[in-house]
Amino acid sequence: MRNITVLKGDGIGPEICSEVVRVLETLKLDLNFEMYEVGEACYEACGELIPQAVFDSIENNKIVLKAPITTPIGKGFKSLNVQLRNKYNLYQNIRPAKSLPNIDTPFKNIDIITFRENTEDLYIGEEVQIDENTVHAIKLITREASTNIAKAAFEYAVANGRKKVTCVHKANILKLSDGLFLSVFNEVAKEYPQIEANTMIVDNTCMQLVMKPEQFDIMVMPNLYGDIVSDLTSGLIGGLGLLPSANLGEDFAMFEAVHGSAPDIAGQNKANPLALLLAACLMLDYLEYRDEATKIRNAIDEVLKEGSVRTADIGGSASTTEFTDAIIAKL
Ligand code: NAI
Ligand code: MG
Repeated sequence: MRNITVLKGDGIGPEICSEVVRVLETLKLDLNFEMYEVGEACYEACGELIPQAVFDSIENNKIVLKAPITTPIGKGFKSLNVQLRNKYNLYQNIRPAKSLPNIDTPFKNIDIITFRENTEDLYIGEEVQIDENTVHAIKLITREASTNIAKAAFEYAVANGRKKVTCVHKANILKLSDGLFLSVFNEVAKEYPQIEANTMIVDNTCMQLVMKPEQFDIMVMPNLYGDIVSDLTSGLIGGLGLLPSANLGEDFAMFEAVHGSAPDIAGQNKANPLALLLAACLMLDYLEYRDEATKIRNAIDEVLKEGSVRTADIGGSASTTEFTDAIIAKL
């Protein structure tokens, strides 16, 4: 029996999390889900955003399925997401944006995977108040982390029969920091002559993604651009409710939706569970339950093709529960 640490999160987190666990449980796998509250609800109940029991569980199980957590702005809270990624050195954040059937977008055959460096860049949170009117923020780029993420992207390309890796950067302006990221990428690319390597400045990348997304295959970039550009790729396939992610390190793995806690629709049973469900599929792939992951993906495709049952964000009127029920019925 493999134990999985499940973090229920804030906002829509608990709603989508319980539905995703319901889908997983219908497969009757040899998995046990240890469910934990984290985030705001937990803070009110026990004075901590993540209680020690959760860290203990993660350290035992080494695998986490995580619903979104709210990060309050300006209250002195450090993002729990960033903390978890750093604590467990989850240096790769992989975000596959793949078109799903029968979703109304201008693009039909999107298959773009973003490899976001997940531990440094401006996300180290080192902001210095110089005086009342001036703040410095530190952007950290290291050879080690840049090498790790570039290698991860090329290794993935080789293992999965992908053709091209594009490095996204702003080295024309950030000559030292993004310059290092870019030069490390070019070095690593030489070790993979069978994979096409190219580089693109981030602002142009955003325009190219909207105009000609079919040119992209795998993209690799520093943390901040990865955060922003991957939300853009979610828009290409129909929105944030559809984009999963895997946070991987050497010893730990954490799977989550790309979206946040969506306070605007929380508590209404309206959220799309697919992003977290597709993240659960990435987790099943990782655990070598590939056939089961395919089963869930096929069930999702069937429900989308039939068209009548879907949540509001993708043009329907079904609740989170009804949408999940329809997927479970296909299993
Ligand atoms: P958000 O991703 O929560 O929401 C953006 C928009 O997308 C909203 O209109 C929301 O209703 C919609 N949306 C998101 N997920 C959806 C779903 N599953 N189904 C239907 N519609 C969905 O981003 P926002 O509002 O900027 O952030 C809210 C909070 O989430 C913040 O505190 C932020 O820090 C946190 N956050 C947490 C993340 C995580 O836990 N990994 C990631 C991103 C944000
Ligand atoms: Mg984000």
